[in-house]
Amino acid sequence: MIKKVKVDQLKPGVYISDFNCNWISHPFLTSKKRINSYRDVEKIKRTGIDEVYIDTTKGIDVYDTFSKDEFLRIFESDSFQISPGDELDFEVQVPLKKELKRAREIQNQASQILKKAYQDIRYGNGIRVDEVASTVKEIVNSISRNHDALLLISNIKNKDEYTYEHSINVSILTAGICKALKMEKEEIVDYTLGAFLHDIGKSKIPNEILNKKTPLTPKEFEILKKHVNYGMELVSSHEHISENALSVIAEHHERLNGTGYPRKLNEYEISKGGKVGAIIDVYDALTSNRVYHPPLNPVQAIKEIYAQRLIHFDEDLIEQFIRFLGIYPPGSIVKLESGFLAIVIEAGRANILRPIVRLIYDLKKDIPITPRNLDLSKGIGELHNIVGTVDPIYYKINLNEYLLNLALS
Ligand SMILES: [Fe+2]
Ligand SMILES: [Fe+2]
Repeated sequence: MIKKVKVDQLKPGVYISDFNCNWISHPFLTSKKRINSYRDVEKIKRTGIDEVYIDTTKGIDVYDTFSKDEFLRIFESDSFQISPGDELDFEVQVPLKKELKRAREIQNQASQILKKAYQDIRYGNGIRVDEVASTVKEIVNSISRNHDALLLISNIKNKDEYTYEHSINVSILTAGICKALKMEKEEIVDYTLGAFLHDIGKSKIPNEILNKKTPLTPKEFEILKKHVNYGMELVSSHEHISENALSVIAEHHERLNGTGYPRKLNEYEISKGGKVGAIIDVYDALTSNRVYHPPLNPVQAIKEIYAQRLIHFDEDLIEQFIRFLGIYPPGSIVKLESGFLAIVIEAGRANILRPIVRLIYDLKKDIPITPRNLDLSKGIGELHNIVGTVDPIYYKINLNEYLLNLALS
Protein backbone atom coordinates (compact mmCIF):
# COMPACT_ATOMS: atom_id res chain seq x y z
CA MET A 1 0.00 0.00 0.00
CA ILE A 2 1.24 3.49 -0.86
CA LYS A 3 0.63 6.01 1.88
CA LYS A 4 1.60 9.56 2.70
CA VAL A 5 3.41 9.98 6.02
CA LYS A 6 5.18 12.72 7.96
CA VAL A 7 9.00 12.67 7.75
CA ASP A 8 9.03 12.51 11.57
CA GLN A 9 7.41 9.08 11.37
CA LEU A 10 10.15 7.55 9.17
CA LYS A 11 12.41 4.86 10.59
CA PRO A 12 14.92 2.30 9.27
CA GLY A 13 13.25 -0.33 7.11
CA VAL A 14 10.70 2.03 5.52
CA TYR A 15 10.64 2.18 1.70
CA ILE A 16 10.07 5.64 0.24
CA SER A 17 8.35 5.41 -3.12
CA ASP A 18 8.11 9.15 -3.76
CA PHE A 19 9.75 12.14 -2.04
CA ASN A 20 6.79 14.33 -2.87
CA CYS A 21 9.12 16.92 -4.48
CA ASN A 22 11.42 17.19 -7.50
CA TRP A 23 14.68 15.25 -7.20
CA ILE A 24 16.89 18.33 -6.86
CA SER A 25 15.18 19.11 -3.56
CA HIS A 26 16.10 15.84 -1.89
CA PRO A 27 19.55 14.45 -1.08
CA PHE A 28 19.32 11.06 -2.80
CA LEU A 29 19.99 10.17 -6.42
CA THR A 30 16.74 8.34 -7.07
CA SER A 31 13.22 9.17 -6.03
CA LYS A 32 12.84 5.73 -4.43
CA LYS A 33 14.84 4.92 -1.33
CA ARG A 34 14.95 2.43 1.51
CA ILE A 35 15.67 4.11 4.85
CA ASN A 36 18.72 2.38 6.31
CA SER A 37 19.41 4.49 9.38
CA TYR A 38 18.14 7.46 11.32
CA ARG A 39 20.90 9.44 9.61
CA ASP A 40 18.88 9.06 6.37
CA VAL A 41 15.85 10.49 8.17
CA GLU A 42 17.89 13.47 9.43
CA LYS A 43 19.13 14.13 5.86
CA ILE A 44 15.56 14.29 4.57
CA LYS A 45 14.46 16.50 7.47
CA ARG A 46 17.24 19.00 6.71
CA THR A 47 15.88 19.56 3.19
CA GLY A 48 12.65 20.85 4.70
CA ILE A 49 10.51 18.08 3.17
CA ASP A 50 7.57 17.50 5.47
CA GLU A 51 5.78 14.51 3.95
CA VAL A 52 6.74 11.60 1.68
CA TYR A 53 4.99 8.60 0.13
CA ILE A 54 5.98 5.16 1.39
CA ASP A 55 5.29 1.69 -0.03
CA THR A 56 4.37 -0.73 2.77
CA THR A 57 4.63 -3.75 0.45
CA LYS A 58 8.36 -3.08 0.00
CA GLY A 59 9.25 -1.95 3.51
CA ILE A 60 7.86 -1.77 7.02
CA ASP A 61 4.81 0.30 7.88
CA VAL A 62 4.84 3.35 10.14
CA TYR A 63 2.20 4.32 12.65
CA ASP A 64 0.69 7.55 13.66
CA THR A 65 0.65 8.73 17.22
CA PHE A 66 -1.77 10.80 19.32
CA SER A 67 -0.65 14.34 19.95
CA LYS A 68 -1.19 15.80 23.41
CA ASP A 69 -4.04 17.95 22.04
CA GLU A 70 -5.77 15.00 20.37
CA PHE A 71 -5.58 13.09 23.61
CA LEU A 72 -7.00 15.97 25.59
CA ARG A 73 -9.83 16.32 23.07
CA ILE A 74 -10.72 12.65 23.67
CA PHE A 75 -10.47 13.02 27.45
CA GLU A 76 -12.69 16.09 27.35
CA SER A 77 -15.25 14.76 24.84
CA ASP A 78 -18.85 14.12 25.97
CA SER A 79 -18.63 10.35 25.55
CA PHE A 80 -15.55 10.28 27.72
CA GLN A 81 -17.15 11.96 30.70
CA ILE A 82 -17.90 9.71 33.63
CA SER A 83 -20.58 10.13 36.19
CA PRO A 84 -19.61 10.50 39.86
CA GLY A 85 -19.00 7.10 41.43
CA ASP A 86 -17.87 5.56 38.15
CA GLU A 87 -14.31 6.86 38.41
CA LEU A 88 -11.60 4.25 38.06
CA ASP A 89 -9.96 2.89 41.18
CA PHE A 90 -6.32 3.97 41.22
CA GLU A 91 -5.75 3.49 44.92
CA VAL A 92 -2.35 2.14 45.91
CA GLN A 93 -1.47 0.40 49.17
CA VAL A 94 2.32 0.47 48.98
CA PRO A 95 4.75 2.84 47.24
CA LEU A 96 6.06 1.88 43.81
CA LYS A 97 9.64 1.47 45.01
CA LYS A 98 8.57 -1.14 47.54
CA GLU A 99 6.54 -3.17 45.04
CA LEU A 100 8.96 -3.08 42.09
CA LYS A 101 11.35 -5.79 43.28
CA ARG A 102 8.46 -8.10 44.13
CA ALA A 103 6.84 -7.38 40.78
CA ARG A 104 10.01 -8.44 38.96
CA GLU A 105 10.11 -11.69 40.99
CA ILE A 106 6.46 -12.35 40.16
CA GLN A 107 7.18 -11.76 36.46
CA ASN A 108 10.06 -14.29 36.57
CA GLN A 109 8.02 -16.84 38.50
CA ALA A 110 5.06 -16.45 36.12
CA SER A 111 7.36 -17.00 33.17
CA GLN A 112 8.68 -20.26 34.64
CA ILE A 113 5.18 -21.54 35.43
CA LEU A 114 4.02 -20.79 31.91
CA LYS A 115 7.05 -22.45 30.30
CA LYS A 116 6.41 -25.51 32.44
CA ALA A 117 2.74 -25.55 31.42
CA TYR A 118 3.76 -25.51 27.74
CA GLN A 119 6.24 -28.32 28.36
CA ASP A 120 3.71 -30.40 30.31
CA ILE A 121 1.27 -30.17 27.42
CA ARG A 122 3.91 -30.98 24.81
CA TYR A 123 4.95 -34.07 26.76
CA GLY A 124 1.35 -35.17 26.90
CA ASN A 125 0.82 -34.39 30.60
CA GLY A 126 -2.13 -32.35 31.75
CA ILE A 127 -1.77 -28.72 32.68
CA ARG A 128 -1.44 -27.94 36.41
CA VAL A 129 -4.13 -25.29 36.67
CA ASP A 130 -3.65 -25.03 40.46
CA GLU A 131 0.00 -23.91 39.94
CA VAL A 132 -1.08 -21.44 37.30
CA ALA A 133 -3.88 -20.14 39.53
CA SER A 134 -1.49 -19.44 42.40
CA THR A 135 0.84 -17.32 40.20
CA VAL A 136 -2.20 -15.50 38.81
CA LYS A 137 -3.25 -14.64 42.37
CA GLU A 138 0.24 -13.22 42.98
CA ILE A 139 -0.21 -10.99 39.92
CA VAL A 140 -3.62 -9.80 41.12
CA ASN A 141 -2.28 -9.12 44.64
CA SER A 142 0.66 -7.12 43.29
CA ILE A 143 -1.70 -5.09 41.12
CA SER A 144 -3.88 -4.34 44.17
CA ARG A 145 -0.84 -3.21 46.16
CA ASN A 146 0.49 -0.96 43.38
CA HIS A 147 -0.63 -1.43 39.77
CA ASP A 148 2.17 0.73 38.33
CA ALA A 149 4.86 -1.73 39.47
CA LEU A 150 3.87 -4.68 37.25
CA LEU A 151 2.79 -2.32 34.46
CA LEU A 152 6.28 -0.84 34.43
CA ILE A 153 7.98 -4.23 34.72
CA SER A 154 5.88 -5.55 31.82
CA ASN A 155 7.97 -3.28 29.56
CA ILE A 156 11.00 -5.52 30.12
CA LYS A 157 10.76 -7.55 26.92
CA ASN A 158 12.89 -10.18 25.27
CA LYS A 159 12.06 -10.91 21.63
CA ASP A 160 12.82 -14.64 21.99
CA GLU A 161 10.43 -15.10 24.88
CA TYR A 162 7.49 -13.44 23.15
CA THR A 163 4.96 -16.26 23.55
CA TYR A 164 5.36 -16.35 27.35
CA GLU A 165 5.88 -12.64 27.92
CA HIS A 166 2.83 -11.82 25.84
CA SER A 167 0.55 -14.05 27.95
CA ILE A 168 1.94 -12.63 31.20
CA ASN A 169 1.61 -9.04 30.00
CA VAL A 170 -1.96 -9.61 28.83
CA SER A 171 -2.75 -10.96 32.30
CA ILE A 172 -1.07 -7.99 34.04
CA LEU A 173 -3.05 -5.50 31.97
CA THR A 174 -6.25 -7.49 32.49
CA ALA A 175 -5.77 -7.51 36.27
CA GLY A 176 -5.05 -3.77 36.11
CA ILE A 177 -8.12 -2.75 34.14
CA CYS A 178 -10.43 -5.10 36.11
CA LYS A 179 -9.17 -3.66 39.39
CA ALA A 180 -9.55 -0.11 38.07
CA LEU A 181 -13.14 -0.98 37.06
CA LYS A 182 -13.74 -1.98 40.69
CA MET A 183 -14.62 -5.62 40.00
CA GLU A 184 -14.83 -8.08 42.88
CA LYS A 185 -11.54 -9.83 43.66
CA GLU A 186 -12.88 -13.21 42.52
CA GLU A 187 -13.94 -11.79 39.16
CA ILE A 188 -10.54 -10.11 38.70
CA VAL A 189 -8.75 -13.42 39.40
CA ASP A 190 -11.02 -15.26 36.93
CA TYR A 191 -10.44 -12.84 34.06
CA THR A 192 -6.71 -12.67 34.84
CA LEU A 193 -6.47 -16.47 34.79
CA GLY A 194 -8.24 -16.50 31.42
CA ALA A 195 -5.82 -13.86 30.14
CA PHE A 196 -2.82 -15.83 31.44
CA LEU A 197 -3.98 -18.92 29.56
CA HIS A 198 -5.56 -17.14 26.56
CA ASP A 199 -2.97 -18.49 24.10
CA ILE A 200 -2.22 -21.80 25.86
CA GLY A 201 -3.50 -23.62 22.77
CA LYS A 202 -0.37 -22.38 20.99
CA SER A 203 1.47 -25.17 22.83
CA LYS A 204 -0.12 -27.48 20.23
CA ILE A 205 0.97 -25.36 17.24
CA PRO A 206 4.29 -26.31 15.58
CA ASN A 207 7.22 -24.04 16.53
CA GLU A 208 7.97 -23.49 12.82
CA ILE A 209 4.70 -21.60 12.58
CA LEU A 210 4.92 -19.81 15.96
CA ASN A 211 8.46 -18.58 15.36
CA LYS A 212 8.33 -18.08 11.59
CA LYS A 213 10.41 -15.08 10.55
CA THR A 214 8.35 -14.24 7.48
CA PRO A 215 4.58 -13.62 7.20
CA LEU A 216 2.42 -16.76 7.47
CA THR A 217 0.86 -18.27 4.36
CA PRO A 218 -2.99 -18.49 4.40
CA LYS A 219 -2.67 -22.23 5.15
CA GLU A 220 -0.30 -21.63 8.09
CA PHE A 221 -2.61 -18.93 9.42
CA GLU A 222 -5.50 -21.42 9.40
CA ILE A 223 -3.36 -23.75 11.53
CA LEU A 224 -2.44 -20.92 13.94
CA LYS A 225 -6.11 -20.01 14.37
CA LYS A 226 -6.72 -23.43 15.83
CA HIS A 227 -4.95 -22.35 19.04
CA VAL A 228 -8.27 -21.06 20.36
CA ASN A 229 -10.03 -24.42 20.08
CA TYR A 230 -6.95 -26.28 21.36
CA GLY A 231 -6.85 -23.94 24.35
CA MET A 232 -10.49 -24.66 25.15
CA GLU A 233 -9.92 -28.41 24.83
CA LEU A 234 -6.97 -28.22 27.22
CA VAL A 235 -8.65 -26.35 30.05
CA SER A 236 -12.44 -26.28 29.72
CA SER A 237 -13.06 -29.45 31.70
CA HIS A 238 -10.82 -28.34 34.56
CA GLU A 239 -12.59 -27.63 37.84
CA HIS A 240 -10.54 -24.50 38.65
CA ILE A 241 -11.59 -22.75 35.45
CA SER A 242 -14.66 -20.50 35.66
CA GLU A 243 -16.86 -19.38 32.81
CA ASN A 244 -15.36 -15.86 32.92
CA ALA A 245 -11.87 -17.31 32.51
CA LEU A 246 -13.00 -19.48 29.60
CA SER A 247 -14.64 -16.52 27.86
CA VAL A 248 -11.25 -14.80 27.48
CA ILE A 249 -9.66 -17.93 25.99
CA ALA A 250 -12.57 -18.65 23.66
CA GLU A 251 -13.30 -15.12 22.42
CA HIS A 252 -10.12 -13.01 22.42
CA HIS A 253 -9.96 -13.18 18.60
CA GLU A 254 -13.64 -12.38 18.03
CA ARG A 255 -14.39 -8.91 16.63
CA LEU A 256 -17.50 -6.73 16.99
CA ASN A 257 -18.25 -6.74 13.25
CA GLY A 258 -18.18 -10.54 13.06
CA THR A 259 -14.85 -10.82 11.24
CA GLY A 260 -13.05 -12.57 14.10
CA TYR A 261 -12.50 -16.25 14.79
CA PRO A 262 -13.22 -19.05 15.51
CA ARG A 263 -16.98 -18.49 15.80
CA LYS A 264 -17.38 -15.14 14.00
CA LEU A 265 -19.48 -13.83 16.90
CA ASN A 266 -21.01 -10.36 16.68
CA GLU A 267 -20.98 -7.49 19.14
CA TYR A 268 -24.01 -8.79 21.08
CA GLU A 269 -22.71 -12.34 21.28
CA ILE A 270 -19.18 -11.58 22.51
CA SER A 271 -18.85 -11.65 26.30
CA LYS A 272 -17.20 -8.94 28.38
CA GLY A 273 -14.15 -11.21 28.91
CA GLY A 274 -13.82 -11.62 25.14
CA LYS A 275 -14.08 -7.86 24.55
CA VAL A 276 -11.51 -6.96 27.22
CA GLY A 277 -9.21 -9.79 26.06
CA ALA A 278 -9.34 -8.63 22.43
CA ILE A 279 -8.25 -5.07 23.22
CA ILE A 280 -5.44 -6.07 25.55
CA ASP A 281 -4.22 -8.91 23.30
CA VAL A 282 -3.81 -6.51 20.37
CA TYR A 283 -2.32 -3.73 22.53
CA ASP A 284 0.41 -6.02 23.84
CA ALA A 285 1.11 -7.52 20.39
CA LEU A 286 1.50 -4.04 18.88
CA THR A 287 3.86 -2.83 21.62
CA SER A 288 6.07 -5.95 21.31
CA ASN A 289 8.95 -6.53 18.94
CA ARG A 290 7.53 -8.95 16.38
CA VAL A 291 8.79 -10.42 13.18
CA TYR A 292 6.19 -8.42 11.25
CA HIS A 293 6.76 -5.04 12.86
CA PRO A 294 9.07 -3.22 15.29
CA PRO A 295 7.41 -2.33 18.61
CA LEU A 296 5.02 0.60 18.63
CA ASN A 297 5.24 2.95 21.57
CA PRO A 298 2.18 2.72 23.87
CA VAL A 299 0.61 5.91 22.50
CA GLN A 300 0.90 4.68 18.89
CA ALA A 301 -0.66 1.36 19.88
CA ILE A 302 -3.56 3.10 21.62
CA LYS A 303 -4.18 5.20 18.51
CA GLU A 304 -4.29 2.08 16.29
CA ILE A 305 -6.80 0.39 18.60
CA TYR A 306 -8.88 3.54 19.11
CA ALA A 307 -9.20 3.84 15.31
CA GLN A 308 -10.90 0.41 15.30
CA ARG A 309 -13.47 1.18 18.01
CA LEU A 310 -17.00 0.10 17.08
CA ILE A 311 -15.59 -1.94 14.16
CA HIS A 312 -13.44 -4.41 16.06
CA PHE A 313 -13.37 -3.29 19.66
CA ASP A 314 -15.87 -2.13 22.25
CA GLU A 315 -15.79 1.68 22.45
CA ASP A 316 -16.58 2.00 26.18
CA LEU A 317 -13.93 -0.53 27.12
CA ILE A 318 -11.30 1.18 24.93
CA GLU A 319 -12.08 4.47 26.63
CA GLN A 320 -11.73 2.84 30.04
CA PHE A 321 -8.48 1.26 28.91
CA ILE A 322 -7.12 4.63 27.72
CA ARG A 323 -8.20 6.24 30.97
CA PHE A 324 -6.50 3.44 32.86
CA LEU A 325 -3.20 3.71 30.95
CA GLY A 326 -3.23 7.49 30.91
CA ILE A 327 -1.73 9.68 28.19
CA TYR A 328 1.78 8.55 29.10
CA PRO A 329 1.63 4.92 30.33
CA PRO A 330 4.41 3.60 32.59
CA GLY A 331 7.37 2.61 30.42
CA SER A 332 6.82 5.38 27.83
CA ILE A 333 9.82 7.55 27.03
CA VAL A 334 9.03 11.25 27.00
CA LYS A 335 10.93 14.34 25.93
CA LEU A 336 10.77 17.30 28.33
CA GLU A 337 10.82 20.94 27.28
CA SER A 338 14.06 21.32 29.23
CA GLY A 339 15.81 18.94 26.82
CA PHE A 340 15.83 15.83 29.00
CA LEU A 341 14.55 12.38 28.08
CA ALA A 342 12.75 10.48 30.82
CA ILE A 343 11.00 7.16 31.43
CA VAL A 344 7.46 7.41 32.80
CA ILE A 345 7.42 5.34 35.97
CA GLU A 346 4.03 6.26 37.47
CA ALA A 347 1.15 7.48 35.30
CA GLY A 348 -0.24 10.88 36.29
CA ARG A 349 -3.47 9.94 38.03
CA ALA A 350 -4.19 13.37 39.52
CA ASN A 351 -2.93 15.23 36.47
CA ILE A 352 -2.75 13.08 33.34
CA LEU A 353 -0.19 15.39 31.74
CA ARG A 354 2.21 15.20 34.66
CA PRO A 355 3.37 11.68 35.57
CA ILE A 356 6.35 10.77 37.77
CA VAL A 357 9.34 10.20 35.51
CA ARG A 358 12.96 9.06 35.72
CA LEU A 359 15.35 11.42 33.94
CA ILE A 360 17.89 9.47 31.91
CA TYR A 361 19.36 11.56 29.08
CA ASP A 362 20.44 15.14 28.46
CA LEU A 363 19.67 15.95 24.84
CA LYS A 364 21.43 19.32 24.94
CA LYS A 365 24.74 17.69 25.89
CA ASP A 366 23.80 14.47 24.06
CA ILE A 367 24.86 12.30 27.00
CA PRO A 368 23.14 9.84 29.35
CA ILE A 369 22.84 11.17 32.93
CA THR A 370 22.74 9.43 36.29
CA PRO A 371 19.05 8.48 36.49
CA ARG A 372 16.91 10.34 39.00
CA ASN A 373 13.18 10.58 39.64
CA LEU A 374 11.11 13.71 39.14
CA ASP A 375 7.44 14.24 39.95
CA LEU A 376 6.21 16.45 37.11
CA SER A 377 3.10 17.43 39.07
CA LYS A 378 5.29 19.14 41.67
CA GLY A 379 6.42 22.14 39.71
CA ILE A 380 5.83 24.13 36.57
CA GLY A 381 8.02 25.45 33.80
CA GLU A 382 10.17 23.87 31.16
CA LEU A 383 11.73 21.22 33.44
CA HIS A 384 8.27 19.82 34.17
CA ASN A 385 6.58 20.05 30.75
CA ILE A 386 6.34 17.06 28.42
CA VAL A 387 6.75 17.84 24.73
CA GLY A 388 5.81 14.35 23.52
CA THR A 389 6.71 10.66 23.51
CA VAL A 390 9.79 9.38 21.68
CA ASP A 391 10.88 6.10 20.19
CA PRO A 392 13.58 4.46 22.37
CA ILE A 393 15.29 2.97 19.30
CA TYR A 394 15.81 6.44 17.86
CA TYR A 395 17.91 7.48 20.86
CA LYS A 396 19.46 4.00 21.32
CA ILE A 397 17.92 3.75 24.79
CA ASN A 398 18.06 0.30 26.36
CA LEU A 399 14.75 0.41 28.25
CA ASN A 400 15.21 -3.14 29.60
CA GLU A 401 18.45 -2.19 31.31
CA TYR A 402 17.01 0.94 32.95
CA LEU A 403 13.97 -0.95 34.22
CA LEU A 404 16.00 -3.87 35.56
CA ASN A 405 18.29 -1.46 37.43
CA LEU A 406 15.28 0.35 38.82
CA ALA A 407 13.71 -2.93 40.02
CA LEU A 408 16.94 -3.98 41.72
CA SER A 409 17.84 -0.62 43.29
FE1 LIG B 1 -4.60 -15.76 20.58
FE1 LIG C 1 -2.53 -13.42 22.33
